[in-house]
Amino acid sequence: MPFSLTTPIYYVNSDPHLGHAYTTVAADVLARHHRQRDEDVFFLTGTDEHGANVARAAAEAGMEPKAFCDLVSARFRALAEAMESSHDFFIRTTDPEHEARVQTFVQLLKDKGELYDGTYGGLYCTSCEVFYAEDDLIQPGNYCKLHPNRQAEWVEERNWFFPLTRWAPRLLELYDANPEFVRPRARYNEARTLIAGGLEDVSFSRATVSWGVPVPWEPEQTIYVWVDALLNYRTALEYGLGRDVTSTFWPTSLHVMAKDILRLHGIIWPAMLMAAGYDPPQGLYVHGYFTSGGQKMSKTLGNVIDPFEVIDQLGADALRFYLLREVQWGQDGDVTWDGLHRRYEGELANDLGNLVSRATAMIVRYRDGRVPDGENALKPVHEEVAERLNAIDLTGALEEIWTLVRATNRFVEERQPWVLAKSEAEADVRRLDETLYTLADTVRALAVLLHPYIPASAAKILEAVGDPGAISWERARLGLLAPGSEVRQPEPLFPRAER
Ligand code: MSP
Repeated sequence: MPFSLTTPIYYVNSDPHLGHAYTTVAADVLARHHRQRDEDVFFLTGTDEHGANVARAAAEAGMEPKAFCDLVSARFRALAEAMESSHDFFIRTTDPEHEARVQTFVQLLKDKGELYDGTYGGLYCTSCEVFYAEDDLIQPGNYCKLHPNRQAEWVEERNWFFPLTRWAPRLLELYDANPEFVRPRARYNEARTLIAGGLEDVSFSRATVSWGVPVPWEPEQTIYVWVDALLNYRTALEYGLGRDVTSTFWPTSLHVMAKDILRLHGIIWPAMLMAAGYDPPQGLYVHGYFTSGGQKMSKTLGNVIDPFEVIDQLGADALRFYLLREVQWGQDGDVTWDGLHRRYEGELANDLGNLVSRATAMIVRYRDGRVPDGENALKPVHEEVAERLNAIDLTGALEEIWTLVRATNRFVEERQPWVLAKSEAEADVRRLDETLYTLADTVRALAVLLHPYIPASAAKILEAVGDPGAISWERARLGLLAPGSEVRQPEPLFPRAER
């Protein structure tokens, strides 16, 4: 089965931060899990590089826009790689292949009578690149809710408009026919209420912005940056792999993003696709926003957590694990260095790292490094985990996995293999065999379950228990480790960190 999923493409007007890392890691967990199930996956991420904001940031840096985009986009790509993101393509909206297809798409809309010429005047936030109604701004002063230090400016110009209002009935049909079109449910309701409450047509071009893709029939105007950006989800399939894979991967299975851009993805995007005659996406998952120490991360407050620094200190797996464990998926949450160290030491190093280390050390010591014959005495969790992941509940799935980690630690304490090892009575020898088999096999299955979350550590665990590379989801059940497999004690998986 094909499964295509995306992250938002990130603006290059500032450096990548933990928020970007979060969405990419979350989407990567799903991509890896679907590959484990032997599905044909296309996972897309990238950078959004046009528009007034980027042009302004480039000017502030004293650079040409394209050179500036090259520099910052490379930072985003480096972050994705440092986090072990397994994306299949990293798109840039300045790719000529993308730009040409954006023009083709808007020409198609025009030819279908889906764009009209009009004048627009409105309050425009240059940071969001979005026109807002007065009600949506902080009064007095028309300050932007997302950029509280920026006042929306009155902008009037001739634009090409997309008749979004005309698409409201079709949008409502789409929502009513797919109760899971937007998840979680509260976000579905939010989007549906916006549609039912009445939409306004959207200006799809800009006369005032020169850093963008020219409107093909009126090159003095550029295509609205959001139209250009949303289209990445389509154009990437057409050229990203060097061949057109739309017949396999369209429509997109899942767009992952935070709540700030729900309106664009849940309303404008499906409408513009339907207007062009394309199928809308199958679904959206909208996660929350996080803060640090209860406040928005900001350089002045000194509570910024730099994802590169976390990876340098503790490794990509620590960052991946922490973000999906600490922040309740779908809700807002809070992240701190302190919390990160606590999870790292308490859960990764102690619960999991020590378990692997003890299990392998005992097999080396008591059974010459060979997995004895036995049956796994613990209860599997793979069905619960799969269920959670099917519902895109990323923290829920991880919690299910952790119940098995904890159960295995209790099992070692109860069985006391070090006591059994002192006895030569046949029953004790058999019981030790079963205990050691259970430990090695469960640690193996845990690695399969954890592979989407902490891929590098999972690979080390599988090597240590003599089952390298066996990450297929079928291997998540218990009792599959072949007796006789060769076990060795790995280097500490999560070494103590300097604080
Ligand atoms: N360029 C647009 C998206 C175009 S998609 C066709 C954009 N870029 S952005 O750089 O601002 O990224 C926004 C996204 O980054 C959010 O939707 C979310 O995925 C992620 N996050 C940014 N800050 C975040 C937090 N503080 N918390 C959680 N996610 C955050 O919007």
